[in-house]
Amino acid sequence: MIVAGIDVGSLTAKCVLFEEKVIAYSIAKVTPDLENTAKAVYSDAVKKAGVSAEYIVATGYGRNKVSFANLKVTEITCHAFGAKSIFPSCRTVIDIGGQDSKVIAVENGVKNFVMNDKCAAGTGRFLEVMASALNVDVSKLGELDEKADKPVNISSTCTVFAESEVVSYIAQGEKVENIVAGLHNAIASRIAAMAKRIDLKPDVVLTGGVAKNKGVKRALEEILQIKILVPEEPQIVGAIGAAIVGKNYASRGRKSERF
Ligand SMILES: Nc1ncnc2c1ncn2[C@@H]1O[C@H](COP(=O)(O)OP(=O)(O)OP(=O)(O)O)[C@@H](O)[C@H]1O
Ligand SMILES: [Mg+2]
Repeated sequence: MIVAGIDVGSLTAKCVLFEEKVIAYSIAKVTPDLENTAKAVYSDAVKKAGVSAEYIVATGYGRNKVSFANLKVTEITCHAFGAKSIFPSCRTVIDIGGQDSKVIAVENGVKNFVMNDKCAAGTGRFLEVMASALNVDVSKLGELDEKADKPVNISSTCTVFAESEVVSYIAQGEKVENIVAGLHNAIASRIAAMAKRIDLKPDVVLTGGVAKNKGVKRALEEILQIKILVPEEPQIVGAIGAAIVGKNYASRGRKSERF
């Protein structure tokens, strides 16, 4: 059975077509029209795969706008199922998206989770603001981190004040690489504070678009003193999880429901 998982996040929409494994996927920026954004990523994935889905599951912050989905599931559940399908040894998921971050304890499903969705610090938005202040692309932050020799200390947890610190480091002539590494250390310490609130057990899997940034992985490994696993395409883990939950659900003969 071919199932589609559609994750409509706050910044990007992701769709995977899944059978025994991912057949095709698509990622696009969200527009204010969430339903059409979801339709567009689904159509693109179908075009790439050359087949359409028999069952569709929506997740993410915009899931309730996907009227053509058979099932709607929370993203916490989907990230847990998605990460576990890629790394069966996974017992903790750290998902860092555009506007929130979550630490999820996984057993047979979700055991517990903590979430930050009230403040930009500790999210992709924090790094986007800082990349813009440094005039670099977010996709280059990981390479810059590798070249740091003495990361700066960013003392503010607030994004607005941290940006002022970045501006003053630039004015002092500090190397961009060291500012970037300091920012990665700041985001990692924010996530580590969240992680302390649950029992962080290995293996830890990092998901979400920010997991593509190797500097964030480096900083988290240093601060948590633990090895972190990153899937080949971390941004689609929630969509993979949605498809897997849907597959299990549909195979039990159920058709349509909201979680
Ligand atoms: N190649 C890349 N390198 C570094 N960061 C990246 C890269 N691609 C995407 N990102 C970052 O990933 C973030 C978006 O992640 P993601 O798509 O997981 O968010 P989302 O699911 O829409 O948000 P949320 O889960 O908070 O609702 C953005 O902040 C973006 O800057
Ligand atoms: Mg997300």
